Amino acid sequence: MSTDNDPVAVVTGAAGGIGAAVVRCLARDGFRLALVDRPGPALDALAAELESAGRPTLAVAADVRDPAATEAAAERVTAHFGGFDALVTCAGIGRIDPIGETTDEVWTDTLATNLTGTFWWCRSAVPRLKARGGGVIVAVSSTTALVGLPGRTAYAAAKAGVLGLARTLAVECAADRIRVVAVCPGATRTDLVRQGYARAADPAAAERAHAALQPIGRLSEPDEIAETIAFACSPRAATITGATLVVDGGYTAGGTSWNT
Ligand SMILES: NC(=O)c1ccc[n+]([C@@H]2O[C@H](COP(=O)([O-])OP(=O)(O)OC[C@H]3O[C@@H](n4cnc5c(N)ncnc54)[C@H](O)[C@@H]3O)[C@@H](O)[C@H]2O)c1
Repeated sequence: MSTDNDPVAVVTGAAGGIGAAVVRCLARDGFRLALVDRPGPALDALAAELESAGRPTLAVAADVRDPAATEAAAERVTAHFGGFDALVTCAGIGRIDPIGETTDEVWTDTLATNLTGTFWWCRSAVPRLKARGGGVIVAVSSTTALVGLPGRTAYAAAKAGVLGLARTLAVECAADRIRVVAVCPGATRTDLVRQGYARAADPAAAERAHAALQPIGRLSEPDEIAETIAFACSPRAATITGATLVVDGGYTAGGTSWNT
């Protein structure tokens, strides 16, 4: 049973693998939801699923690369629900290209979606969270921000930028009771990684090799990442701010050695 006192969360990239899992976790935890993504059937289907489960939901088709569309979306959520209490920025794209094959377009689009889109949403969210007396922003980065992996210069630069943005905003907004947390997923079974396998000579072999590289021997599932994000959004994380939470099956804890 939902009430007008239930907190409201905005999730960008809500129709994708990790974003949709976050939406379902936050709905379970009592949030009303604003789902932001590119227009499409996945966005509409998820909104219909939540509504039919009794969760007040607003689907907003908006491109995170567009600052005017972002501000208009934040205003629409505010008008619809009276404000919001949490922002989770999941929208992201990623390609694997050696630097010589990283076109101007790929660089610009990767930075615009993953980093600048996060900034536009944070800038639109902060005054609205202040108006609620505080809130939380969870910015999804990546383990690619923490370790160098070939072919990911644009993606890594964007995701490392997200870490700096989140850390700095956490300090800037702490007195306003706004927490800002970065989450770095490791390899997670979503369309984003499947698109990478599809470009490999043998996609099934690429998927097996990817799993074997993880100390836990498998990729994370989207809901395993989402549980950490939902925790970061909850009052149980009341003193976690400016932190980077890594959820990667041990990938960044380990390395390879001559005797393994
Ligand atoms: N899957 C992984 O292994 C992995 C690892 C580390 C970090 N991440 C990050 O997690 C986040 C979610 O990724 P995912 O794996 O669920 O990928 P996904 O491709 O399944 O979902 C990404 C979602 O973002 C949306 N999106 C992309 N560009 C957008 C735009 N311009 N405007 C609005 N929405 C847009 C897509 O429509 C999609 O619904 C991304 O930021 C990604 O970089 C994923």
